[in-house]
Parts: sequence; structure tokens; C-alpha cells
Amino acid sequence: MKITVIGAGYVGLVTATCLADLGNNVLCVEKSSFNLEELNLGMSPICEPDLNEMLHTNLDEGKMRFTNDMDEAIDFSDVIFVCVGTPQGNSGKADLSQIEEVSRQIAKRMNDYKLIIEKSTVPVNTHKLIKRTVKRYARKDLDFDVASNPEFLREGYAVYDFMNPNRIVIGIESERAGKIFREIYKPFTEKGTKLFITKTPAAEIIKYASNSFLAIKISYINMLADLCEKADIDVNMVADGIGADKRIGRDFLNAGIGYGGSCLPKDIRAFINIAEDYGLDFELLRAAEKINKDRRKKFLDKVEELLWILKDKNITVWGLAFKPDTNDIRDAPSIDIINGIMGAGAKLRLYDPEAAENFKKLFPENDFITYYEDKYEALKNSDALIIITEWNEFREVDLDRIKKLMILPIIIDGRNIYEPALMESKGFEYYSVGR
Ligand code: UDX
Repeated sequence: MKITVIGAGYVGLVTATCLADLGNNVLCVEKSSFNLEELNLGMSPICEPDLNEMLHTNLDEGKMRFTNDMDEAIDFSDVIFVCVGTPQGNSGKADLSQIEEVSRQIAKRMNDYKLIIEKSTVPVNTHKLIKRTVKRYARKDLDFDVASNPEFLREGYAVYDFMNPNRIVIGIESERAGKIFREIYKPFTEKGTKLFITKTPAAEIIKYASNSFLAIKISYINMLADLCEKADIDVNMVADGIGADKRIGRDFLNAGIGYGGSCLPKDIRAFINIAEDYGLDFELLRAAEKINKDRRKKFLDKVEELLWILKDKNITVWGLAFKPDTNDIRDAPSIDIINGIMGAGAKLRLYDPEAAENFKKLFPENDFITYYEDKYEALKNSDALIIITEWNEFREVDLDRIKKLMILPIIIDGRNIYEPALMESKGFEYYSVGR
């Protein structure tokens, strides 16, 4: 099938490349000329496992290409995935100006049926606004559909998640649109993946509702962690116990310093605003958001309480990315925590396998901050080690070596990656969250 993808950002590029890999003929339109040059050379501006290889293969095989010509892209096919950015505006609401612009462009150019698909995360009932805009600007005799097909791609697993969906959500209003979607996703449905076909506004809300639910789950376990810490219970055991109930599930019950990244914080905020627009105070979400914000401050308080005076101490930090397997530091807990430790006058020795370069843009090297390319090197003469991101490589470390390198073997672990009993037996002063 011929498919147009508008926007070669994170969602657009992954969507375009994976759709081409499924055997479609894809034209992806990207207005930034810098990105376009790189993309046509097969260089992905984002770092996602398997994406570069897949991009190369599909470009070489002629199954996809990039353009900056919007008219060419609109003429190219009847099926248009809209993957432009919907950043959080000043008011906390999603800024939909790019969606509006694209709707007008499609309307003015189209001369036959088009299926316009919202792939970007948009507030509920955005499809109505797109529809109204297209109707206003398009020829009156033309038929079109607006559908919603939200993405559920995790950073670091985007290609895997696209190619191995646990469900595909589709919001449609006509059988014609349904037929097209069934064709596009046939490679998945043939293998047993469920197409969840619903009304368009329901599909729009499912994305926000899913991410907000995950945020609630994290805040819930983090509050339980506080309780467990006071009552001398290991929160991981509680998480295992409640997570074994299929209705609850163990995923997203890892206590720590809370969620960050470009999605969960933005989506929960936007969902609170959407509810407000409908006259509802979604208190539950506001509480989850507040709990999450407080985690960082609480963790800092714990560091200060355990180390007493931070001024002039050498503190090593392992992990800067908002989660493992990504170099993304957007809304990462590390930002607030490092700001706080720096403010207290400590000297920071930072290590992250992927995110250090991005972090340097926010916190350049100076008398108080040094970056290391080796995690053990970062520990030399250190008064304490703080763990903020649970990279797998931290799980398999040489604990005896760590102990020898540090002035005092104190570890404050924000992600609960070691077993307290083992750490104690190895002679560490080990502090974690909710245990
Ligand atoms: C999320 C959703 O999972 C994905 O479906 C959606 O489309 C985009 O947003 P992502 O932001 O890449 O994906 O990361 P995710 O793996 O969901 O983690 C989000 C944050 O929650 C991270 O900061 C992570 O450290 C934190 N987290 C996750 C916890 O604190 N505890 C957990 O148990 C799980």
C-alpha cells in the first residue's frame, strides 16, 4: 500500500520506517532541511535500537523515501499518517498549531478521498477540529475520513514495540477507513494481535488514559515505598505480592525516584487539563503528579540527611538518563537531584553510558562537575555513590572494586538495584527506596 507520513520526528520516523519494513511504499515528509539531508542518507537523528539498519535497508530497497514537498506527499497516497509534534504549550495544554496547519494543507491540495490518521497524541475530540478544518478548506464534493491510531512506543524499544504490538487501537467512523486499517495491520492480525476498533474520541482518550494510569501506578508504589520504609518492610516484596494478582500486574510497580521523560509527565498534565475543559477536577491525577514531583525533593532530603554536610564532599552519580536504554534527559529526575546536590556545594563526578553528552549541554563541566567515561574511574576517592538510573551494567558490577575505590562505601540507590542483605554482607552502607 502507498502511505504518506507527515513529520519525521520520533513517532513519524519510527512509523514510516516500520510501515516500509512491513512491505508498504512510504513517502515521509519532513520540513527541516537539515534532517532531510541526513535522513536521505539513511542517518537517523534519533537513537533507537534497530532503527538505523531498518532505515538503510528500506531506503536501499526503494520502499521509502523522504521529501520536504508537502504537495508531493499529499498527492502520493490516500492514507496519511499525521505525526507532527504536539508539544506542551505554556498553559499545560497541547499546542496543536502544527496539526491545524497540516489539516489545511491536506484540505487545499487533496483532489480525491483521503484517510487522515492522527498518530500524534492529541486531546480528545481533536478529530472534530481536523474534520471541520478540512471541510472548510477542501473542495465540497470530496470525501474524506479522520481516524485516530495512537502510538504506544517506549523510548529505547520503539521499533520493537511497533513490530510487536500488544494491541492496536483504532478510532474510526466509516467502514471504508476500517478496511484500510485492516489491510495495513494485516501482518500483525495474521499473527494474532488484536485490532481494537472503536470510535475516534475513545481512541484519542485511550492514549492519555493509558499513560496516566501508568503514572498513577508508579506514584502508588512510591507512596507505598514511603510507608514500607517507615514500617521496615521491603517494598519490592509488596510489589511482588500485589503484582501477582493478574488484575493488577507487576509491571510499573518499581518504586524509586519517580517517572520522567517526554511522555508520562506531559500526558498526565494534558489529561488533567482535558478533564478541566470538561468541568472535571481529576484529583486522582493531580495527586499522582504531586507525589511524583515530591519524589525528587524527598530523595535529595534523604541524601542530605545521610551525608549530613554536602559541601566539598565528592559525590559520584551513576545514571543521568530519565530511564535506561536511552540518551534522553527530558524531565529526568537527575536534573533536579544534581541541581540540589550542586547547590549544597558538593563536587560531582558524573557517569552515564549514553546520556552524558546531552547532560553536558545543561550542566557543562566546571570546578564542581566532572564527567567520566568509566564508571569505576568516577568512583575514585568518592564519599558516596548515588544511583539515579537503573542501567543494566550497574547490576553486574564488581562490588569489591567499588569498595576499594571509594573513601567510604556509601551507596544511596534511587532505583533499588541491589539486594540490601548482599550489600550489607559486602560491607557497604547501602540505602535504597522503601526497603
Ligand atoms: C511511555 C509509555 O510506556 C509508552 O507506551 C508511551 O507511548 C510513551 O510513554 P517512555 O516514556 O519511553 O514510554 O518510558 P516508560 O518505560 O514508560 O517509563 C517512563 C518513566 O517511568 C521512566 O522515568 C521510568 O524510570 C519510570 N518508571 C517506570 C518507574 O519509575 N517505575 C516503574 O515501575 C516503571
